Amino acid sequence: MKILMVCLGNICRSPMAEGLMQEKINKYNLKAKVDSAGFESFHLNDTPDYRAIKVMHAHGIDISRHKMRLFTVEDFQKFDSIYVMDHYNYQDVLALSSGPEDADKVNLILNVLEPGKDKIVPDPYYGGVSGFENVFQLLDKATEVIARQILDSKVG
Ligand code: 4NP
Repeated sequence: MKILMVCLGNICRSPMAEGLMQEKINKYNLKAKVDSAGFESFHLNDTPDYRAIKVMHAHGIDISRHKMRLFTVEDFQKFDSIYVMDHYNYQDVLALSSGPEDADKVNLILNVLEPGKDKIVPDPYYGGVSGFENVFQLLDKATEVIARQILDSKVG
């Protein structure tokens, strides 16, 4: 199972989602792989936002080596599941899809907690550290559910 986490900047939410998913992969000894990408090239190749690094570090997860990269059409071939944080990311990814097979791989990540509710992970970039802690809590729960789904399906 190859999972891609997607947000706008790939410096806050999706690197946090990647770090949390990797922690669960390690914890449950899954064969799954995870990566993250974004759509806004302003921070291309940058490491994550210092507040994202700080909040993750406070929870024992190091994401300081991640480098911002852009989502590409090849990601539809490379990944089995593409989790997005909000409706903008959903539209951005869908705009590059070439058919239902691609589109079926894309889902709002919080739908794993509340299917069909289409809730978003709010962009913490313009707020304070508490917004990042909120993102952590939401993504910790969502990635736990994804890990258990992988365990139950035994697809690794
Ligand atoms: P993210 O937050 O999508 O959670 O990484 C953002 C970070 C940077 C920008 C937008 C969103 N930006 O436009 O620079």
